[in-house]
This record gives sequence, structure tokens and C-alpha cells, in this order.
Amino acid sequence: MASPDLPADFLWGAATASFQIEGATHADGRGESIWDRFCATPGKVKNGDMGDPACDHYHRYAQDVALIKRLNLRAYRFSIAWPRILPEGTGTVNAAGLDFYDRLVDEVLGAGIRPFATLYHWDLPQTVQDRWGGWTGRETAEAFAAYVDVVSQRLGDRVKDWITLNEPWCSAWLGYGWGVHAPGLRDPNAALQATHHLLLGHGHAVPILRRNSTAARVGITLNLSPAHPATDSAEDRAAAGTADGFSNRQYLDPLYKGSYPSDLTAQFGDDAFPVQPGDMDLIGAPLDFLGVNYYMRGVVKADPTGRNPGGEHVRVEGAERTAMDWEVYPDGLRELLERVHRDYAPSALYVTENGAAYDDVVAPDGRVHDEGRRAYLESHLAACAHARAAGVPLRGYFSWSLLDNFEWAEGYSKRFGIVYVDYATQERIVKDSGAWYAEAAGPPRALPPV
Ligand code: FCB
Repeated sequence: MASPDLPADFLWGAATASFQIEGATHADGRGESIWDRFCATPGKVKNGDMGDPACDHYHRYAQDVALIKRLNLRAYRFSIAWPRILPEGTGTVNAAGLDFYDRLVDEVLGAGIRPFATLYHWDLPQTVQDRWGGWTGRETAEAFAAYVDVVSQRLGDRVKDWITLNEPWCSAWLGYGWGVHAPGLRDPNAALQATHHLLLGHGHAVPILRRNSTAARVGITLNLSPAHPATDSAEDRAAAGTADGFSNRQYLDPLYKGSYPSDLTAQFGDDAFPVQPGDMDLIGAPLDFLGVNYYMRGVVKADPTGRNPGGEHVRVEGAERTAMDWEVYPDGLRELLERVHRDYAPSALYVTENGAAYDDVVAPDGRVHDEGRRAYLESHLAACAHARAAGVPLRGYFSWSLLDNFEWAEGYSKRFGIVYVDYATQERIVKDSGAWYAEAAGPPRALPPV
């Protein structure tokens, strides 16, 4: 087996998110989230799929942690559901919700696996959406901080790797700008406000995590994507620059340079981001790592209508594609990691998500022969090894995902797991890609010192 050339202390992990795997949306006092509401709105999610049953992980977490151990992984990235902790978004804490994550963390640590906890992976309490317009409201950033305080007071003694937000670009633009994710708004101004308030929430959370979790390592996860011009024309090259600002610099610049990119404020207006005095200092506070989620590059041409803030994306003919119709382009990961290192120099990086959907089937031999996904993992891990060789302080890689799960607007129709889930029986089957990944990760080793 061609195993990527990665050092012994490289952290091999897998990632999941609460709403995508937990199910049990009514259990133990959990409140409604914007994704429950979105799923219940006809026409929003493919086949009318809902957050139940998902992988019923809420009840099967011990079995799933045992699976992670069997796969030789030493890190597990999961997310915490805000509406389980504070069903109304603020105020009364739901002890049963906190207890669930307490048990999960103990199980993970007991298996010799390092927990990476994401505090917000899109399941905003519906009450926060109703009361303040969700992330369009400044109050939501403060409510997030209060929630982070509750969680980190309880788990901060054991969880040391914290991710404040998952992919604020998706929360803001897919959720508030284009309406394809919850809460389903279609308003670019709302998306710009959401961007700023998400980042502000992150900024509030960082010192709270440092206070409640001694020697914590605090980071954020961004979905980033290199933007390539469709042709070498000056117009297309300019379009790629605009797309880069929209997809990447919109978040990297405030976090690492203390301001929004000037080409974006020129495009959207100087007061597009509702910045108040002191905000940029909070947002720009130093982090211990940056999480990068990589799925594909963007190939962009000029859009004379100006309707697409991120430029007009073109389809690369003849390219290999996944079941999501996303181009397979591993070198984009190497390029991206090297570029982020060069332009922003985060002290450490993790690939916090990377993976692919394929149309998996259980073969007559009872196994899932997902050669496409295996090759995808191998080529992207090789890209990681190349980036490391070029000096990028990349410390680990989390495959998306541990389990097939609820893929947002695509419902259960798209399978990203290295482990297959039969939703009717809740049986788990390690796919060939999962077996390959386990072998590449190597035999279980002692948990490195934290
Ligand atoms: C990312 C999300 C993750 C998953 C993958 C396929 O944008 O963070 O939850 O849905 O895409």
C-alpha cells in the first residue's frame, strides 16, 4: 500500500457534526434548531429528509467511539449542539444535554483518542433566529459567547482542542445569502451581517475558552478554495481575484490581518460589514491553529452582469467528479495550504475536513468497495505530505466523514463516510476506504502528550 509520507506524530482523525449524526432531535429536552425548522419546510431538503434518525449517534456513541479506535485514529472532531445545551438559546441550561457531551468526551478519552470539539456546526437554536434574526443580529454573537462559557466550564478540563465555528462562509452565504441552507434567507446584506456577527461570536469565544480550559488550543475552521481563472485573459484573472476575496480573504483577513479586504468593501460598500469599535481587535486575537476544510477549487470567469459576488464558476470538462458533482483536484489542497502559510502564517494548521461522496452500495460479499473514495483520500493525503515538505506546519488530517450522515440540503442521499450506515438497521460497515485509512494511519499509538 502506498502510504503517504507523513511523520509519526501526524494526527490522523475523522470528523462529524451533531445535526448530521446524532438524531434524537426530541430527546432529553433538546430545543428546536434552524435545521429542524428548515427540514420541516417543504421543498428545502431532498426527499423531505429530517435530522432523525441520522446515525442515532446520540444513543450509539459508545459503539461509534469504539469504531474510531478500531480505525486506528487518534483524534475525533465532533460538534456540540447548542440547542441541547440551551434549548431556548440563552438562559436555562439543560443538564441532560451537557451530560451527553460529558459522557462522549469521557468515552473518547478513555479510548485514547484526542477530542476536537466544534462549538458551532450550524444548528443554531430556532429561538435565537426568531428573536434576533439569527446571525444577522449582534445579540447572537453575545448569546454564542454565553453558550461557549457554559460548555467550556463543564468540558474544559478534558477537551483541550476547541474549534469555535465551522465554515462561517457557509453559515452566512448558504444560509442567509442564497437560501439553500437554514435559515433559508436570500439577502446578500443579511449574509454580510451574518459574516461579521459570526466572526464577532468567534472573537468573544476565544478568551472565554482560554479562561475555562487551561492550556487550551483554540482555532476556527474555514472552508477555503483556491480560485483559478478559466482562461488567461485579464478579465478572468480579475474574476479569480474577486472570487478569492469572496471565498477566502473575507474570513482570513479579519482573523489574521485585522480588517476586511478592501476589494470586498469596495464591492459591497464600506459599511457592508456592521463593524463597531473594538470588534476587529476581538476578531483578530491570536489563535493556536487554523482548521482548513477543503473539497474543491473554483474555476472562475468574468461575470459581466456582476450578479455573482464570487465570479461565475465554470465546469472543467473531462475532470473527474464525485457524486456531489465536485471536481476531484488534490493539488488544490497543497496549493491552498502553502498559500495560507505564506500569506497568513498560522502557527499550526489542520485539515479539519476533506472527503468525497460516492454512490456506495453494499456488495454481495457484504462489503463496500469504494475505490473512488480510497483513491481520493490517498491523493489528498499525498497533497498534505507535499505541503509539509514545503514547510507548512500541518499537524493533522480529519477525514470527512467518519459515518455516512445527513448531508444538509442533500439529506441522506449523499454518502461521505469511510463507514457505511444502513439507516434502517443502523448497522455500520467499514468501507474499503476506511480499512485503507486505518492501515495508513498505522497501528494505534499512545496518545501524544497534550
Ligand atoms: C462541509 C460541511 C460538512 C459536510 C461537508 C460535505 O461544508 O462542513 O458538514 O457537509 O461539507
